[in-house]
Amino acid sequence: MFREDATLEQTNTAEPTRRDFLYIATGAVGVVGTGALVWPFIHQMNPDASALALASIEVDVSAVEEGQSITVMWRGKPVFVRHRTDKEIAEATSVAIDDLPDRNARNANLPEDAQATDPNRSAEGKEPWLVMIGICTHLGCVPLGEAGDFGGWFCPCHGSHYDTAGRIRSGPAPENMLIPPFKFTDDETILIG
Ligand code: FES
Repeated sequence: MFREDATLEQTNTAEPTRRDFLYIATGAVGVVGTGALVWPFIHQMNPDASALALASIEVDVSAVEEGQSITVMWRGKPVFVRHRTDKEIAEATSVAIDDLPDRNARNANLPEDAQATDPNRSAEGKEPWLVMIGICTHLGCVPLGEAGDFGGWFCPCHGSHYDTAGRIRSGPAPENMLIPPFKFTDDETILIG
């Protein structure tokens, strides 16, 4: 009786039983399975042709009349392109820099310390056009156009008001909406990125 118990115990510890083998086999499949799952995600992070194509986009603005806006997607973000009216430009130009909560132009086309004047929020010779990333600088909602206390954009998430140059004027957002790298390649085409 004693001998038989000892033999059984030895079998359980010294050699894998069939059940142990099944666990080991399952574990091995699990590792292979994980590897097979991880690879596509890593592979997706490599820039392929379509991702590189989206690094910059051309926008035809020939149909965007004064007072109209369009939204395009660039690198997964909405970009507002607004053809501003003379009134909107005049309102934005009349604001003193000292009255702005954020005095930085936040314009990727200008030096980092450029001030948030109205001309610095657009492009030289193309002042009617405002091109900016349409994401509220508070917590990332997409603001509504032609809305809010300053006639620009309003973010209803927590009540941030932007003016007609996309500068934050009141509410919790800390910064002006960002101006991405862009340029006009001709009178009707904007290259973003
Ligand atoms: S996300 Fe716009 S005000 Fe909070």
